[in-house]
Amino acid sequence: MEQTGVTVRPAVESDGPALVAVDVATWSTVVTPGPQPDGEGPFFSERTPPEAVLVCEVDGEVAGYVVLRQEFPMPSHAHVLEIGGLAVGPGAQGRGAGRLLVEAAVEEARRRGAVKLSLRVLGGNDGARRLYERCGFVVEGVLAGEFVLDGAEVDDVLMARRLD
Ligand SMILES: CC(C)(COP(=O)(O)OP(=O)(O)OC[C@H]1O[C@@H](n2cnc3c(N)ncnc32)[C@H](O)[C@@H]1OP(=O)(O)O)[C@@H](O)C(=O)NCCC(=O)NCCS
Repeated sequence: MEQTGVTVRPAVESDGPALVAVDVATWSTVVTPGPQPDGEGPFFSERTPPEAVLVCEVDGEVAGYVVLRQEFPMPSHAHVLEIGGLAVGPGAQGRGAGRLLVEAAVEEARRRGAVKLSLRVLGGNDGARRLYERCGFVVEGVLAGEFVLDGAEVDDVLMARRLD
């Protein structure tokens, strides 16, 4: 997929360090409930192998990623895939890379036979929520006060879109 200066492709093992750097640069308690990454990596793991990741390049540099995987590996849940992570480095934001990554994940989920794509987003992550809404995701539920971040309870919002 391509937009001016922005392309999306499947990840390869050697993308790891650049994707760790994206995680370090984008981490905040507004966008993720996870601990601050130390920058040591590794990015890829058994749960997140390169085959589960699409990366975007902006002006030829790896600038972001989306993780596409099955949350519950059971036959009864095989028709649902989830976006298990999305980030674009600060220097590359606002150029459509985020949207292109989400659209590529939708296309890839369809190609893999999924009929539904789901995700979780923190209640206060307005930018990501707007992006997902623009890409056709709707709120399916809210886990109220699911995380305590900076001393305050934060909701986890469940969003999804049908692919059929
Ligand atoms: C959410 C995130 C991935 C969006 O990435 P992005 O590359 O900036 O996304 P886009 O460029 O597609 O869209 C972002 C904004 O840029 C605007 N935009 C899109 N294409 C554009 C272009 N060609 N030129 C200028 N602006 C553009 C969009 O209108 C959008 O504006 P808005 O949100 O104010 O309405 C990024 O902000 C990020 O990594 N955030 C931290 C991690 C995070 O929150 N991840 C989600 C966890 S659930």
